[in-house]
Amino acid sequence: MKIILLGAPGAGKGTVAKLLSDDDGSVQVSTGDILRAEVKARSPLGKEAKSYMDRGDLVPDALIMKMMEERLQKPDCRKGFILDGFPRTITQAEELQKLLKKLKIRLDLVVNLDVPRDVILDRLSTRRTCANPGCQEIYNIKSKPPTAEGKCAKCGSPVVQREDETEEAILFRLDTYNQKTVPLIGYYDKEGRLRNFSSISSQQTVEEIKKALKSGQR
Ligand code: AP5
Repeated sequence: MKIILLGAPGAGKGTVAKLLSDDDGSVQVSTGDILRAEVKARSPLGKEAKSYMDRGDLVPDALIMKMMEERLQKPDCRKGFILDGFPRTITQAEELQKLLKKLKIRLDLVVNLDVPRDVILDRLSTRRTCANPGCQEIYNIKSKPPTAEGKCAKCGSPVVQREDETEEAILFRLDTYNQKTVPLIGYYDKEGRLRNFSSISSQQTVEEIKKALKSGQR
């Protein structure tokens, strides 16, 4: 599958992307995960991105596009990809369209995960993430706790709260999402590629996305 996952911070994009990837082998391409790994590695990109991420702001489009142009040409994307957290602005969507045209790739679907704000706030304050940059498995102290020792069940690394998980940064991320990312819903709807999914159960959402892909319905 070649799909885009849209949704507010905490809507469950990462959770749904991992389930879809486990199901058919398409690679999850999460711009947030890539950026967090760059920050941890103290790379030039990571150093530039860190201050934007810590306050919950978007990393500049030019940096994201350079990173994604390279990422989408890696061999593991040939079978399929799930874009998680990208594009996030109209500029990124327009640049992605040009890039996909150049690479002769056709998107199957744009998925919008629709989750009420109170559910989102609760999910974000209770999320925990594996600290290993190569794993970044997502946990939740209510719905999907890590091991009793607070370790990742997949790789055994400590499970921590993300640096952009302060109340201030969460509210800023939600405002940024409303201002800069919500317009993408109209953008892809106009193109006839968008499907909305009310995403309370991630597993049910995954089944509905698979059904939509199979029937080619949008
Ligand atoms: P990113 O990592 O993409 O963060 P985000 O979009 O804010 O999304 P989240 O990862 O917070 O949430 P999610 O929707 O993946 O939810 P999750 O599955 O974890 O980006 C981080 C930062 O990087 C940005 O702020 C920005 O600075 C930068 N950045 C990234 N991409 C960029 C771009 N394209 N352009 C510019 N800057 C960019 O779920 C949340 C919690 O809920 C978890 O605990 C999970 O276990 C739980 N949960 C999920 N589903 C369910 C369910 N059905 N029931 C119960 N619990 C659930």
